[in-house]
This record gives sequence, structure tokens and C-alpha cells, in this order.
Amino acid sequence: MTSPKKLYIKTYGCQMNVYDSERMAELMGEQGYEATQTPDDADMILLNTCHIREKAAEKVYSELGRYKGLKAAKPGLKIGVTGCVAQAEGQEIMRRQPMVDLVVGPQSYHRLPELEKAGAQAVDTDFPTEMKFDHMSKRPKARRGPTAFLTVQEGCDKFCAFCVVPYTRGAEVSRPAARILDEARDLVERGVREITLLGQNVNAYHGAADSGDWSLARLIRELAEIEDLARIRFTTSHPNDMTDDLIAAHGDCDKLMPYLHLPVQAGSDRILKRMNRGHTAAQYIDIIDRLRSTRPDMHVSGDFIVGFPEETEADFQDTLALIERVKYGSAFSFKYSSRPGTPAAERDEVPEDEKNDRLQRLQALLTQQQRALQNDMVGREVSVLFEKIGRMPGQMVGKSEHLHAVHVMTDGVKPGDVRRVQIVESQSNSLRGALV
Ligand code: 5AD
Ligand code: SF4
Repeated sequence: MTSPKKLYIKTYGCQMNVYDSERMAELMGEQGYEATQTPDDADMILLNTCHIREKAAEKVYSELGRYKGLKAAKPGLKIGVTGCVAQAEGQEIMRRQPMVDLVVGPQSYHRLPELEKAGAQAVDTDFPTEMKFDHMSKRPKARRGPTAFLTVQEGCDKFCAFCVVPYTRGAEVSRPAARILDEARDLVERGVREITLLGQNVNAYHGAADSGDWSLARLIRELAEIEDLARIRFTTSHPNDMTDDLIAAHGDCDKLMPYLHLPVQAGSDRILKRMNRGHTAAQYIDIIDRLRSTRPDMHVSGDFIVGFPEETEADFQDTLALIERVKYGSAFSFKYSSRPGTPAAERDEVPEDEKNDRLQRLQALLTQQQRALQNDMVGREVSVLFEKIGRMPGQMVGKSEHLHAVHVMTDGVKPGDVRRVQIVESQSNSLRGALV
């Protein structure tokens, strides 16, 4: 018997890429490839790349450079670049790095097996009309951990002036609800207790053509009917798609977690307009207020960009004021990074030291809020979904409903259990508690 070939995947960027890598590993598994944690013994290497901020392509080229020796020692080694850099660079990748065998854009992964078999160098950066996952065979039945991602929607039609996603991931497409529900039931049978629905614009989910009138809220309510599924989350959302129904679901659907990642990017209406966001700061705050009147303990998370072209100190102060008003449970913040081909790339940039200074002040405020909300959990009883064994002997680690990591010393729980925990201490990035 021949030993199985080995596949090494290195994943960059967002959770959607994590899900894609998992699906590619399963797909290549059907072709006799087994996963390996190191490129050194691999027969195939895939770099699943991200293009959201600067230097992404350069990072990929330097990573590829490191594989030169491996390829020389094992000429049969296949090297592929997938993801958003593959989409953005296409053929150029092979011109600069001729040892690359495959360049496959994010919508063409279902074609990986045939491209791999064909032997010759291949580039596929098409945007098919149906989503790749619905061309793939059913997922394997193996047991798996208690949490899983499930992509329900891809692409974006919003065209924020700074963002490459509409160009790299393509137009907004939703998967058929029936396929998603089947996949979710399978995941739950395999031991999954929490599903995070993914999409670049997940709350724009509308189902596939001719499968009836779907929305993310309806999908969540249907998923909540799966008995052994304990928790549902979704990310990432756009304020303009926060429907009344979705806000209401946070109040009446117990399995939907009281946590929402809702990027705003900036707090100045002038900048929001220049970013082509399609909403004002007041409209964003109104959504948060309505969510919190539906579910008072809602934790909100966000994304922020500082130093967008023409952002003044006064504009930046508006962002700080918005943060003061919303009070974030967590957040991601970035310096504006010019992306070739996007409208904002044509505009005058804010000086780098100004960007650095604003980022520092913004992060100081966000960290302070995050700490305050975390400290506020001390003394409370929360529900924890246990995920794995901790680093210390006898320790188990899980997540609270608000996505705080919680450490508990116990030998009475296993991964997948949901238990009540009394929080006794707030540490730098996690909480410590005891079973109730
Ligand atoms: N520069 C900096 N940050 C960006 N993001 C997207 N594009 C850019 C850019 N050109 C950030 C946004 C988005 C998150 C995924 O990345 O905040 O919500
Ligand atoms: Fe990166 Fe965006 Fe592509 Fe995800 S979708 S890999 S964040 S560019």
C-alpha cells in the first residue's frame, strides 16, 4: 500500500479563509491527501492568502521563496496560491515565482482536484454564478471539536472606498438555505455545539434564487430548531442590513448569543460619506440602542480605520466620541492602508506619524472599555461552552456567551459541555471561574 500524500495549508486573514482552508483540506482528503502541520514533509503546499491590507502580496512572495529548497529536493511537490492575493495577482504570481503550480481564486476551490491532477501550471480566478461549496461533495463524518464556522454568504456589493473585498471575493452571493441547514445538522451530529455563520456581509443573507424568501433572521430561527445545537453566532455584518427582524431575534432566540460584531470604521459623518459607507454615526448608534433595548446585556464589537484620506483631528474626535457612546466589548482597529484599484487610493494620505498617533489613542480607549466590561463580569454567573483542556493540569477552557475566554479548574467537564460558572477573577485576556 502506498502511504498517503501530505497536504500543508498555511492560512492568512479572516475566518472565511479558515473555513475555506478546512473545506480544501477535506476536498483534497478525498484525493488521498492527509493534513500535515509542516511544509517539510508535504507533497502539496497551499498558501491561502489575504489581501485586505498592504504588503500582503510581498509576504506571499517571501513565503514562497522559503519553499525553493523543498521544491528542488522534491520536484513532484505541488505549490499553490489560493485566496484573495491569488485573485488580485493571478498569472503575475507564476511570472514572479515560476515554481508555483496553481493559482486559484476564492470562488474556484471546487476545481482544485482536477487542477491538481492536470499536472500543468494552472490559473483559475473565475467568478462562477453558483457558490463553490455547493459544487463540493458532502463533508466527511469524522468527529470534531465543539465549535465550527459555516460560510453562508460571500462577496460584497457595498464598495466601501477603502476595501478590496468586492474585487477579490466578487459580488454578493448567498448559499441555498437547505444546503446550509443540512451542513449544520451534519456538524451537530459530529459533535459541534456552536456554529458561527460567516459572510463578508453575512446579514445581507437572502438565500439562493428560487428557494423562497430567506433572511439571516429566518435562517437563525431554523438553525435554532436543531436540538443539540447550543449556540449560534454570525459575522461580519453591515449596519445597513441590520433589519428589525434580526434585531428582534437577539431578544427572542435563546440560542443566538448576545454579541454582535458590527463594524462602523469611523465616527465622523463627513468621513463615513467619503468612505461610501451609506450610513451616519447617528444611524449606527440607533441600531446599537435598539439592540440593547431588545437584549440589554448585548456586547458590541467593531472595526475601526484611522487616518482615512482627509481625516482631520476633528473627524478623529468624532470617532472617539462614538466609541464613548457605544462602549465596545472588543474591537479591531487599523491604520488606513491604501489598496490599488480602490477609489480611496487616488486621494491624499494622512501622514504616517499622525496615523500612528491616532491609532494609539483609539486603542487606549478601546482597551480601557474592553477591560471595564470584562471586569464587570466578576461575581456574575455565566454560561460557558467548554472547548478544550487548558495549559495547567486540571484546567478546562471555554467561552462565555459574550465570547470571553473562561478558565476553570475541574475534572467534571469535557469539551462540548455547557455549564454555569461563577466568575471569580478578571485576568489580562480571560476570566477565571468555578463551576456552580
Ligand atoms: N485599510 C485599513 N483597514 C482596512 N480594512 C479593510 N480595508 C482596509 C484598508 N484598506 C479593515 C476594515 C474592515 C476590516 C476587515 O479590515 O476595518 O472592517
Ligand atoms: Fe482577507 Fe478579506 Fe480576503 Fe478575508 S476576504 S482573506 S479578510 S481580503
